[in-house]
Amino acid sequence: MKILVLNGPNLGRLDLRDSKVYGDLDFAGLKADIIAAGKELGFECDVRQSDSEVELISWLHEAADSNTPVVFNPAAFTHYSYAIRDAADMVKAPLIEVHLSNPMSREEFRHTSVISGVADGTIAGFGADSYRLALIGLASRLK
Ligand code: DQA
Repeated sequence: MKILVLNGPNLGRLDLRDSKVYGDLDFAGLKADIIAAGKELGFECDVRQSDSEVELISWLHEAADSNTPVVFNPAAFTHYSYAIRDAADMVKAPLIEVHLSNPMSREEFRHTSVISGVADGTIAGFGADSYRLALIGLASRLK
């Protein structure tokens, strides 16, 4: 089964971000880890990243139209994009919100997620393992 793994702004430049928060990951390595974790669970993960709200919304529309499950790290859009929330709400297949860091232990503006209310679940704070745990959650949801 195909899974869309969508990543928002600045995640394509993980290697240049604060290593105390994001470790020494780069996006290519993260993508390879996600694809490998997905394969073990029988998923074909289509891993994408965009800095554009418009493009992320179009990918969520694609997921809604094709009834494809989604693992979604909306990055900073998590905290304020109602347009992305509304697009995520149209996805009727399971959608899991993920974060590499734990936004609740960071600055106050990160404590709000406008996405969580339309996600089936949220996993945060486990680095690349957040995605693996989300895929495990999806696998049990889809049984
Ligand atoms: C993030 C957390 C967000 O607050 C931040 O804006 C990101 C990454 C994470 O994966 O920990 O860009 O979504």
